[in-house]
Amino acid sequence: MSANDRIMGVDVGGTGVKAAIVDVRNGTLASEWAKLDTPQPSTPDAVTGVIQQLMKQLKWNGPIGVGFPGLVKGGSVRRAPNLDPSWIGVDLVNTFQKELGVPLVAAGNDADAAGMAEIRFGAGKGIKGNVMMVTLGTGIGTAVFLNGQLVPDTELGHIELRGKDAERSAANSAKERKGWSWKKWGKNVNRYLSTLEFLMGVDLFIIGGGVSKKADKFFPHLKDVTCKVVPATMGNQAGVVGAALFALDALDGAKKKR
Ligand code: BGC
Repeated sequence: MSANDRIMGVDVGGTGVKAAIVDVRNGTLASEWAKLDTPQPSTPDAVTGVIQQLMKQLKWNGPIGVGFPGLVKGGSVRRAPNLDPSWIGVDLVNTFQKELGVPLVAAGNDADAAGMAEIRFGAGKGIKGNVMMVTLGTGIGTAVFLNGQLVPDTELGHIELRGKDAERSAANSAKERKGWSWKKWGKNVNRYLSTLEFLMGVDLFIIGGGVSKKADKFFPHLKDVTCKVVPATMGNQAGVVGAALFALDALDGAKKKR
């Protein structure tokens, strides 16, 4: 294994920050799995501190890829609905690089990260057509792939369903907040996914987030979805593995420019 085969992936979420060192050749973990609660308030300084702790735990000071729960454009945060509002406008990549003191930081949307991992190593490997990864967590993240190619930065977790942001009824956090049964929540997910299928012409949905482990509880309620729906095969690890791929792609891009 060469030095560049190992990259630390960090998945920043609304409730937890997860990390591991990833063997980017095959998408497996090359270290223990580390997780800390997302600090409250989840300000840039506090989240940076948590990543520092995770680096210490994993004894890491090499390149880092970060999956972020919001829209990141040109390295800067445009929106982050489930984190402290002080993130807006922060140059995430330069801030992390300076504060963490590592050779490279690459960052992107958390659902794009999870989707990339599933497309390269998991449920979406080799699948042609329009594949959509949907992560049902604190928020709803989406990643669209056309013949394996990512169409980045989609924010389809915020389409309107019955006059409200879809996240309010179909995210896993909505189920927990309202104490809904699998059936009641499953019907909301059904409405959400069938609307996306209709609007986007989806061929395959890959469902991620921690709740994807319980697919048998809510997939039976997805009655109006006519395309195939599968749980993420990499489960909750997809976000961390995909985050590492952001850094791998940045390193590869830099090599090509040389
Ligand atoms: C954000 C997305 C993110 C998703 C999952 C949504 O609220 O707008 O960018 O991917 O939550 O974290």
